Amino acid sequence: MTKTAAVPVIAIDGPSAAGKGTIARLVADKLGFHWLDSGALYRAVALAALRAGVQLDDAGAGRVAAASEISFEGEEVRLGPELVTEAIRSEAVGVAASQIAALPSVRQALLARQRALREAPGLVADGRDMGSVVFPDAVLKIYLTASAEERARRRHKQLIEKGMGANIHTLLQDIKARDARDSARALAPLKKQDDASLLDTTSLTIEAAVEEVLARFAATRTP
Ligand code: DC
Repeated sequence: MTKTAAVPVIAIDGPSAAGKGTIARLVADKLGFHWLDSGALYRAVALAALRAGVQLDDAGAGRVAAASEISFEGEEVRLGPELVTEAIRSEAVGVAASQIAALPSVRQALLARQRALREAPGLVADGRDMGSVVFPDAVLKIYLTASAEERARRRHKQLIEKGMGANIHTLLQDIKARDARDSARALAPLKKQDDASLLDTTSLTIEAAVEEVLARFAATRTP
């Protein structure tokens, strides 16, 4: 088996709705690498905590995080035996995820699980602290962002395509509020690290953003 340290990680961090998930998954597909959507872990814990009716505090959510069995099968997410891929995408779960993600016990409970997903031939991991905390030795660290207005527009389009009602002004407010909460927290705040390279996708297509990540990764491979 390949030693963990030899398994390359591409860390893609950045704010909500910047396209991290889509771009990370496509980069992983192109390279034949595994993909970790770390936000899905926080969302699954939030869903479990909401269902259990526990207080979303360090003790309550921490216990739920430690006890939750979360697994991935391609793009599907399971909580215990149940498929929760769709359920974790609701706004209510997103808001709760952002709250519990600020709690040390929750982040601690999820740390080893994220690292365990580093398997040959490589991993593309997206989230907020992939390059700073979870995989500090990642070969490539990208801070992927887009303007708040563009992110609201994209989320609006996504929701309309799914047949869900959405108001672009409310979405923009939500995105700004979540950015503020994720950036202001003491633990693993949302922030571009010095060793991460910026990729602003405001005026890039998904394909162009994927090509850019692949080019930056290829540049790490040439001596
Ligand atoms: O990327 P996302 O919107 O699915 O993430 C849901 C929440 O989880 C978001 O508010 C921030 C948090 N999160 C985090 O704190 N650290 C990560 N590595 C991934 C997500």
